[in-house]
Amino acid sequence: MSALFTPLALRSLTVPNRVWMAPMCTYSAAAQGPEAGVPTDFHLTHLASRAAGGAGLVMAEATAVRAEGRISPQDLGLWNSAQQAAFARVAAAIESYGAVPAIQLAHAGRKASNRRPWDGPGAVPEEEGGWATVSTGDTAFPGLPAPRALTVDRIEQLVGDFAAAAERALAAGFRVVEVHGAHGYLLNTFLSPAGNDRTDSYGGSFENRLRFPLAVVEAVRAVWPEDLPVLFRTSATDWLTENPDDPREGWTGEDTVRLAKELQARGVDLLDVSTGGVAAKARIPVAPGYQVPFAERVRAETGMPTGAVGLITEPVQAEEIVASGRADTVLLGRQLLREPYWAHRAAAELGAEPRWPVQYGYAVTPRRR
Ligand code: FNR
Repeated sequence: MSALFTPLALRSLTVPNRVWMAPMCTYSAAAQGPEAGVPTDFHLTHLASRAAGGAGLVMAEATAVRAEGRISPQDLGLWNSAQQAAFARVAAAIESYGAVPAIQLAHAGRKASNRRPWDGPGAVPEEEGGWATVSTGDTAFPGLPAPRALTVDRIEQLVGDFAAAAERALAAGFRVVEVHGAHGYLLNTFLSPAGNDRTDSYGGSFENRLRFPLAVVEAVRAVWPEDLPVLFRTSATDWLTENPDDPREGWTGEDTVRLAKELQARGVDLLDVSTGGVAAKARIPVAPGYQVPFAERVRAETGMPTGAVGLITEPVQAEEIVASGRADTVLLGRQLLREPYWAHRAAAELGAEPRWPVQYGYAVTPRRR
C-alpha cells in the first residue's frame, strides 16, 4: 500500500493524501484600487486545477495580512471583505474536488514592494505604486531600499493583523492556515540572528528573536478552531553557518528543532520545512530532496509532524520520503506547475487509486464488472 496515498489526520481533519501543493506566489492580482489583493480567475484556475489533479491539500500562495506586507504590488491579500469573498470561491472550488483548501498568511517585511519576477529585479518606486517597507531594523535586503524599524506598537498591531486575516480565511472556507516564517519574510527576519538587528526584547537572544513569531502563532491559534490544524513554514537554515566564507552567525537546523518545540507547545500541528538564503554559496549541492534531512531531524527529535519540500519531482522519491518516516507529507512546487495532474500519475505508478473528478473518472478508469 502506498504511504503517499494514505490519508493524514491532523486534529479532526483528514487530508486524503500526502501530495500537497506548496504555496507559490503568482503575482496576478490587481496592484491597486478596490481589486488590490483580490483573487482573480487566474488564481481560481491555478489552485482548483491542482485540486482536480489529485493533490490532497492545496495551499494558496503567500497572502499578505496588510497591504504593506505584499512582496509585490500584485500579491494576494486578506485584509478586507472583497478579498475574503473572492477567496471563498477559491476555497469552495478546491474543496469541490476533494482536496483540503489551505492558505499561507504572510508579511514580506523588508522584501516587500518588489517588482514581480518578469518585470526585472528591484523595488517598485513609490511614484509607481510602491511603498516604504518595515523590518526588525533599518538594514536593507541586498538590492532593495532600507526599511524602517517596527515600533513595539506596530509589532503588536501586526500580531492582530495576522489573527484578523486568519479569521477571514476561516470565514472564506479554508480548513488549514499556515504562518509564513521562512525565506527572509518579516517573521523569518526576526528569527534569524543574521536578520534581526534589534536590541530590545524582540532581538538578541534566541528567546527574544522568537517573541514576535510566537505571538503571531498564539494569536492565529486562538482564532483558528480547536479541531482544525495550524501550520508554520520555516527556513530550517539560512545556509550561513554551513558557509566557511561567511562569518555571520546564521539560523541552523538545531535552532529549528528548538523552534519546533516552542511551536508544538503552542498548538502548531505540522512544520513545513523549507530553507532560505543561497545553498550554493555554502557549496551545498542543490540536488533532489536536499532539504529533506531538516524535516527528518525535526520529526525524529521532537515527534512533530513535518512536511518536506524542495526538488521533489518523482513519485517513488515522494513515496520513499513518507514511507521511511522522514516526513509526514511532501509539498510539491514547480513539479505541480509543470504537471498539475501529477498526483493521478503518482497514484497509478504507486498502485493507489487516483482520485479523478467524477466527470473524468468513469471515462478514464477501466470499467469494473
Ligand atoms: C515559491 N515558493 C514560495 N514559498 C512560500 O513559502 N510562499 C510563496 O508564496 C512562495 N512562492 C513561490 C513561487 C514560485 C513561482 C516558486 C517556484 C516557489 C517556494 C515553494 O513553496 C517551494 O518551497 C520551492 O519551490 C521548492 O519546491 P519545488 O519547487 O522544488 O518543489
